[in-house]
Amino acid sequence: MDYLQIVGPTKLTGSVDISGAKNAALPLIAMTLLAKNEVTLNNLPNVVDIKTLIKLLSNLGATVDLEKESVKINTCSLTNTKATYDIVKTMRASILVLGPLLSRFGHCEVSLPGGCAIGQRPIDLHLKALEQMGAEISIQAGYVLAKAPDGLKGAHIVFDKITVTGTANIVMAAALAKGKTIITNAALEPEVVQLCEVLKSAGISIDGIGSSELIIYGTDRRLVEIEPFHIIPDRIEAGTYMCAAAITNSEVTINKIRPDHLEAVSSKLEQMGFSLEVKDTSITVKPAESIKAVDIITQEFPAFPTDMQAQFLTLCTQADGVSIIEERLFENRFMHVSELQRLGADIKLKGNSATVAGKIDLVGADVMATDLRASSALVLAAMVAKGTTHVHRIYHLDRGYVELEKKLQKLGANIKRLKE
Ligand code: UD1
Repeated sequence: MDYLQIVGPTKLTGSVDISGAKNAALPLIAMTLLAKNEVTLNNLPNVVDIKTLIKLLSNLGATVDLEKESVKINTCSLTNTKATYDIVKTMRASILVLGPLLSRFGHCEVSLPGGCAIGQRPIDLHLKALEQMGAEISIQAGYVLAKAPDGLKGAHIVFDKITVTGTANIVMAAALAKGKTIITNAALEPEVVQLCEVLKSAGISIDGIGSSELIIYGTDRRLVEIEPFHIIPDRIEAGTYMCAAAITNSEVTINKIRPDHLEAVSSKLEQMGFSLEVKDTSITVKPAESIKAVDIITQEFPAFPTDMQAQFLTLCTQADGVSIIEERLFENRFMHVSELQRLGADIKLKGNSATVAGKIDLVGADVMATDLRASSALVLAAMVAKGTTHVHRIYHLDRGYVELEKKLQKLGANIKRLKE
């Protein structure tokens, strides 16, 4: 198993290019199930989660031509509609094939994803919405068995909670359903917006893109022709490098990004005393005279993202004063706290909030990655910790960060990938 060795403290300098967004690419790969042509996705992030979903599609019978930063997927002759446990258990986002498979074939079986490190993460809202669209759903032997022999029908879906993959799944289901689907309380995340935009340019009529009410006019099972497109930049990868600049109090330019997707993150960094130079496709983070404490509440887009919570919590260990971080989306998303404590951080947890005592000298130690974003937070901490830190179980990191150690080495970090 690989691990990372990081020697700190370090200063960074220069610029880093951000890859395509994993969380945009996943629904867009599932979306190829709605196409009658071979679909080309460019700016594909070369990370394990993407390879997992591509493997799931090829197991179903799609033909796939994967290059470093692009993939061509053809699902035309696909007939298998069973997404098996061995793949789904490794990545919850595999549930994204449920909506498109059901709307295209009228039946499918998708393994239940099960729990994960950051909480329960149920899929009840996906299932309830599909039932409203006429699906008959049962759970048997760990699988969701879904049937809609006459096809799905448009419906008015009101999500009780905002769900990102739930919205994506229902948008894809609605695209081939019969009639009009209204989704109220839809997710506003840029990744959902891109899915809608690509479907719209493929001829699906969608109103309200980017708002909390989407109206989708389905094709009644007619597949669509999807032109090649470019996946949007990864705002969480970008935010993580912004935090790398901030925690080392260095000047770093983050390139190939959409600054408008990073407003909540940028605004917190400014509150903490960093100055930002924002251009069309880049942000330069400049050092702070002193790093100020900050309070953060994670919420749905456009508010502060839960996927940036671990990185900011780590940054707060270097601030002057006490910061309070409240996690509103996932019930168990503070697994990184006990690992940060091993490096010397002073953090107290109560319910869904963490109180981070400011400015402490961290010292290198062995730590274990627990989930994707928690892993990057440990790498950030290691860059300011004095001495050597080993971050173990970095397969979590490889699920979502493209060549993290190479990008950080280029910025001047002393980081190496080694084998246990
Ligand atoms: C997506 C992102 C993930 C991010 C999360 C929140 C992808 C592949 N993953 O995950 O990186 O952390 O959004 O921004 O895009 N919920 C239910 N029932 C459901 C669905 C969700 O109760 O059927 C709850 C969840 O437990 C959670 C909240 O709703 O508390 C939001 O979850 P959701 O937006 O669905 O997260 P994901 O789409 O799984």
